[in-house]
Order: sequence, then structure tokens, then C-alpha cells
Amino acid sequence: MNDYYDVSLKEWRLQRIEKASEVSPVKHVFVKGSIGDKSLIDELFEKYQFDVVVNLAAQAGVRYSIDHPDVYIESNIIGFYNILEACRHNPVEHLVYASSSSVYGGNKKVPFSTDDKVDNPVSLYAATKKSDELLAHAYSKLYNIPSTGLRFFTVYGPAGRPDMFYFSATNKLARGEKIQIFNFGNMKRDFTYIDDIVEGIVRVMGGAPEKATGEDGLPIPPYAVYNIGGGQPENLLDYISTLQEELVRAGVLPADYDFEGHRELVGMQAGDVPVTYADSAALERDYGFTPKIGIRDGLRAFAKWYKEYYR
Ligand SMILES: NC(=O)c1ccc[n+]([C@@H]2O[C@H](COP(=O)([O-])OP(=O)(O)OC[C@H]3O[C@@H](n4cnc5c(N)ncnc54)[C@H](O)[C@@H]3O)[C@@H](O)[C@H]2O)c1
Repeated sequence: MNDYYDVSLKEWRLQRIEKASEVSPVKHVFVKGSIGDKSLIDELFEKYQFDVVVNLAAQAGVRYSIDHPDVYIESNIIGFYNILEACRHNPVEHLVYASSSSVYGGNKKVPFSTDDKVDNPVSLYAATKKSDELLAHAYSKLYNIPSTGLRFFTVYGPAGRPDMFYFSATNKLARGEKIQIFNFGNMKRDFTYIDDIVEGIVRVMGGAPEKATGEDGLPIPPYAVYNIGGGQPENLLDYISTLQEELVRAGVLPADYDFEGHRELVGMQAGDVPVTYADSAALERDYGFTPKIGIRDGLRAFAKWYKEYYR
């Protein structure tokens, strides 16, 4: 519940979860605290003896990491280490955690495969996510903890992160401000709708990498990393056109809105990459799942939500 962006949006999501919990056999318990707080994490793991742990908590955002490096180390490195240590002392069936497509940096080969070398991060955020994968590997090997890292590709949808392009562009257009389009629009992104991410996580939760013993009598690390991405990179300008159409359709902006007059083509930003493109074949092979929601449907759902939420 930190204030990286509007906390009321986080509270709104929390209310929705609590409401769903009322009618669900699985009860939701909310604990306000930081994964950087080792004693809190230890206490929770001891109290609940979790079967499956899914860690999505992190300081996200590539650009913010340029001016606020400390919080990335605190949450993404120390916080994640605290979770690994807690899993070591309170055995779990499966640890699933969010990694990121940003680990691919300026990878030239497309689509991006988990077999590609990812040793050249171009942002601190990416470096922390790659570090999480390395830490998880060491803990899987040393303590036989089944772990799966999921490299998400540009997730978007209703109640998403206001600092992400589609959301901040919508806010700016609604306020009559200009949007900046980076690298002069010459960008491709593999966008993934939130429901596809949720389904991917749920499927992966139920299928931990198998434990096995090597010839040396030590564990073969029950460790895996998967991409979760739409697998259909879109040109940024096409994505923006679709967003504009859907904002008009939902009544967020008027049909005669001067979109041309509210855009500015600018150069590339530090830490950004021109292309992301997921090879999600391994996810399909092992979990029978490939993201399937296209940008038209996804942006329509976002625009509809936005209209309702900011009514
Ligand atoms: N949205 C994307 O496109 C995308 C892409 C790749 C990876 N990811 C990863 O997916 C996960 C979820 O991202 P999101 O886009 O929903 O971002 P988000 O900022 O909405 O969600 C992260 C949540 O973690 C919480 N958090 C941050 N530091 C914490 C700490 N120290 N202790 C406890 N909670 C803390 C934040 O308050 C926030 O609610 C993150 O791990 C992010 O790095 C997201």
C-alpha cells in the first residue's frame, strides 16, 4: 500500500478482494507491511505455514528506478531474499514470483526465449528482477525449494498501474494535455491483458517443478522460469490508435477529440527498450496455456472501467 501511485486505487482493489472473499471458501487476510521487514515475513510464514507462495510485491517501473534506486534494492532484493529465507525455514510446495520481460534488455533476437542469455540489463529494475531469478535458483538448489519465475510482458487492464503508458496517456488526454510518444513511435510491445496473467499464475501455482536427485546425491534444482506474453507484438502507434478509439467508444473522450494535436513524438528514454516479444511456447507445453486476449478487447475493458471509476 505504498504511495508510489494513488493509494486510493490500491484501496479500491483491496475492497474488491475483500468482497470476493466474503463469498469464497478461501478467505483473504490482509496484512499491511513490507516484505523488506524480515521479522514480519518470518512471523507470517510461521503462523500460516503456506503451501504455495506467490510474490508479486515489488517496486515496479523502469524509469522510476533511475531516480529512486534505494527502494528497488529494499523491496526487490532484500524483500525477495526475506521471502526465500522464510521458504527455507517453513517449507512450501511452490514459490511463484513475478520476474519481468525487462530482463531481456536490448535483446536483438525475437521472439525472446527463456533460453536467451539475459546478462545485459539496461535498468536497475531489470537488474533486480534478474537477481531474483538467480537468488531463487540458488535457494532451489541448496534447499530444494520448488520455484517458478514468471516474466510478465507489459501487463495492462482495468485498475492497472497509473504510471504505465496506456493509463498515464489516458489521464493526460482526459486533462487536455499532450502525450509523449517515445522513440518517435518506433516501438513494439508484447502487451498482455491482466486476465491472461491471472490465469497463467493460477495454472502455474498448481504445477511446481518436480524434485529430483542428481548423480551426486544432491537436489537437481526444482526451478523454472517462463515468459507470459501475448506473443503478438503491436506497434505502439497502432496500440495508441486502438486506445483512442476505445476511449471515445466508452465516452471518456468526445468523438471529435483532436488526438493529432495532443501528441508529441520524442526520442528514446534511458532504460527503455524498442521491442519486447514473448516466446510463450514453454508455458503452452507445460501448462497448456497461451495468453489470448487481444488489445481491442483488453483496451475496451480498460476504457469501460476508467469511465466508471472516474465518473
Ligand atoms: N505491469 C507490468 O507490466 C509488469 C511487467 C513485468 C513484471 N511486473 C511485475 O509484476 C508485479 C506486479 O506489478 P504491478 O504492475 O501490478 O505493479 P504494482 O506496483 O501495482 O504492484 C506491486 C505491489 O507491490 C507493493 N509493494 C511494493 N513494495 C513492497 C514491499 N516492500 N512490501 C510489500 N508490498 C510492496 C506495491 O504497493 C504494489 O501494490 C511486480 O513484481 C512487477 O515487477 C509487472
